[in-house]
Amino acid sequence: MTRPLMAGNWKMYKTPTETQHFFEKFNALVADVRHCEILICPPALDLTTAVEATIQTNVAIGAQNLYPGKEGAFTGEISGRMIKSAGCCHVLIGHSERRRYFHETDANVFEKTVAALEAGLTPVVCVGEVLEEREGGKTEEVLVRQFRGGLGELTADQFAELVVAYEPIWAIGTGKTATPKIAADAHATIRKEAAKVFGSSAAKSLRILYGGSVKPDNVGILMAQEEINGVLVGGASLDPLSFAKIVNYRNSDRFLETQPHQLMHSR
Ligand code: PGA
Repeated sequence: MTRPLMAGNWKMYKTPTETQHFFEKFNALVADVRHCEILICPPALDLTTAVEATIQTNVAIGAQNLYPGKEGAFTGEISGRMIKSAGCCHVLIGHSERRRYFHETDANVFEKTVAALEAGLTPVVCVGEVLEEREGGKTEEVLVRQFRGGLGELTADQFAELVVAYEPIWAIGTGKTATPKIAADAHATIRKEAAKVFGSSAAKSLRILYGGSVKPDNVGILMAQEEINGVLVGGASLDPLSFAKIVNYRNSDRFLETQPHQLMHSR
């Protein structure tokens, strides 16, 4: 069984100096972690600082977006090749904020996923429904459409490389977390669709992360769900102690006892 992936998405927060300060604290807090993989996705401008700050640690660095082309006249964009050569291993694709504010479609998600794989990066492809879709009973339909449109045309080998993140949009940055059952049911829907397209063994091995208001105090019940193979954390990944507590979800009591000094500072 693959280890869970505990990922942080910093969105448009932190300068290079703030990035440096984050890792000065965070690396020590997670130095002994073996039960999961740790990934942080800072803004593009911070990637080099983050990679340098995590050399010879158990923390991996990923980007938040890429342009699907090797190079060219695309002002303001960065390619998978650039991200890879900066020392990153993952890239987020199709985050709901990219879909909503930058009009990314499932077709863009497909192109970007292929470009990431060709550059040797692991894509973390985000899917999820808005509140009206959930309330209108359309969650399954939306997830299936996003899955088919974004990932359905990949080859089996390509599919085996990626991670999917289920992020219900109504839970992102709102403080409303999906209940463990809602999250697990949505993961099961995605896995069922993956089995239809790529076969049951590929679907079983697919890592599906949950994202949307994950915090130190709810990560334990989410991770207790068999369907949840990790988390994608926005707001609570910005503070080193908060994200370290999330990473240490299995023994947070022991972890808290051993970090009394830093815990006091976080309050
Ligand atoms: P949040 O963000 O944890 O702040 O809700 C999650 C995400 O957008 O990836």
